[in-house]
Amino acid sequence: MEKTFIMLKPDAVQRGLVGQVIARFEAKGCKLVGMKLMSVDQALAEQHYAEHKGKSFFEPTVQYIMSSPVVAMVWEGKNVVALARELMGATNPANANPGSIRGSFGMDISRNVIHGSDSVASAEREIALYFRPEELCDYRKAGEEWLSE
Ligand code: TYD
Ligand code: MG
Repeated sequence: MEKTFIMLKPDAVQRGLVGQVIARFEAKGCKLVGMKLMSVDQALAEQHYAEHKGKSFFEPTVQYIMSSPVVAMVWEGKNVVALARELMGATNPANANPGSIRGSFGMDISRNVIHGSDSVASAEREIALYFRPEELCDYRKAGEEWLSE
């Protein structure tokens, strides 16, 4: 089953949105297989956003995810990488569908509440950055049999 890396960014934790955002993934039918509240140090932040090194928003974005604790999670499900991006909405909350997480809870691109992997390859890279294999749980979840044929 596909896995994706999701981070509730510092603004989500500080604004008390953790429960509401997790509830959307649960309600959709995704399975939580890893989760921790943690602080991100400079080295990890720079690796996380490595693809953006050299861009104008790289430094402020690195500083932002280091500024306060984040919730790092791994969610599992059918096509969950693309599904999570749909649930999250567009990068800029100002353009995001109002039903999406960023569209519901954000105002500005620099404080957009949530990170989610943009491809299966990114998900594998990001999960490995944040979690040791033994920190992920492989389990059967009640109700799974009601999610698809
Ligand atoms: P990006 O990977 O393009 O977006 P996404 O998070 O949707 O995959 O950018 C990473 C983060 O960098 C983005 O979530 C917010 C921040 N950012 C800015 O602050 N300004 C910008 O113009 C862009 C493109 C991103
Ligand atoms: Mg991205």
